Amino acid sequence: MQHLHSVDLISGVSHYHIAEEAVLPDDQADALAGTYVDEEHYELLINHDADVWTPEGDLLVRFRKNVLPSRECGRAWKVLRTIHNPATNRGMAAGKHEGKAFINPIKLDGTRSNTDYTAGRLNSAQNRGYYNGKPILKDGTVSNTTRRHISDGLADSSSGIIGSFDRYARFPFCRLTAFTKDNPGDMLKVADYIRAIDKVFCAELPDRYQAQMAMVEQTKSDWIIPGTAFTTCTVNKNFRTAVHKDAGDLKEGFGVLSVLEAGDTYAGCYLVFPKYRVAVDMRTSDVLLCNVHEWHGNTPLIGKKGHYERISVVLYYRAKMHKCGTADEEEFRAKHRKLGDPLYDRDSRPQLVTTDGTEENTDALYDDQLALANMGALGGGGEAQ
Ligand SMILES: [Fe+2]
Repeated sequence: MQHLHSVDLISGVSHYHIAEEAVLPDDQADALAGTYVDEEHYELLINHDADVWTPEGDLLVRFRKNVLPSRECGRAWKVLRTIHNPATNRGMAAGKHEGKAFINPIKLDGTRSNTDYTAGRLNSAQNRGYYNGKPILKDGTVSNTTRRHISDGLADSSSGIIGSFDRYARFPFCRLTAFTKDNPGDMLKVADYIRAIDKVFCAELPDRYQAQMAMVEQTKSDWIIPGTAFTTCTVNKNFRTAVHKDAGDLKEGFGVLSVLEAGDTYAGCYLVFPKYRVAVDMRTSDVLLCNVHEWHGNTPLIGKKGHYERISVVLYYRAKMHKCGTADEEEFRAKHRKLGDPLYDRDSRPQLVTTDGTEENTDALYDDQLALANMGALGGGGEAQ
């Protein structure tokens, strides 16, 4: 890759500035939606303290190694590994399905659109993938080599959400996810881990953190993970995501991720930003801050089947949560809402001040993202790494 590389001698952080000619054109990057990436899709692997900047000067990746206490990681792992929802409801992040992307969007009325979101965009060569866990070779035949297990993003995978979730067609009231409501003791154990990640987010990216906290302050405390800038946490186990962009999170915030490993060592599952040909190898105790509104997906997860765990954690402020009433008000709404009532009072839409100082009505973002966000809803949302 052609990029400028420098190292801050005091902090030891590497800085990479990606050259414009190294960036995939938008049409080529868009064509990767719903497909799986591998080692062909990156040239720069980040596994050390580093910042990666786009040619436009925007931060793409801020990665910090070994910044979380091992005690909190261990306690969180014991809880988060118990979340077992199939990852098949993860929309674009779950990849193509039966030859096409599994992403027909759900419309605002709750029905599923007939329009395949990426019809015509899939490239068969990029989608060769795997059959029964065996790699499909370039000539279309299936490899006989099965000594290594390769997670294809669905098999042996699970995905779930903890924290809170906003209204949508199927559940037209704000609520705590089932796991959160039913396991308060476990949530306390996980909260220490989330607060440790929150501290890193605050220290390493204070502007974005403050933007997110500004929304937290407008949000009923019932929906905030206590002491953090987050409402919601997506938990993926052994999940190789296909190329997707996150949806449903606060545009002014930033992607905040970590990983918990257990069992045998595994390789791969790098998080790749294929447009910029950059990959990140997240491991236990690391924190990745990244622009999840750029295309991203994982390389294959390789290890001995059933002997490893890779749990990824994605933390965010769910963009509509400031529109929710208190937990009691939402429960009342759930009991008394009439069919056809709008999800939200559109006259009360708040204005956000964007980073360039202009005001913006956030509902345009919501409406665009609702379809993808709805797909996973209780089980997945639009976020995965
Ligand atoms: Fe994601």
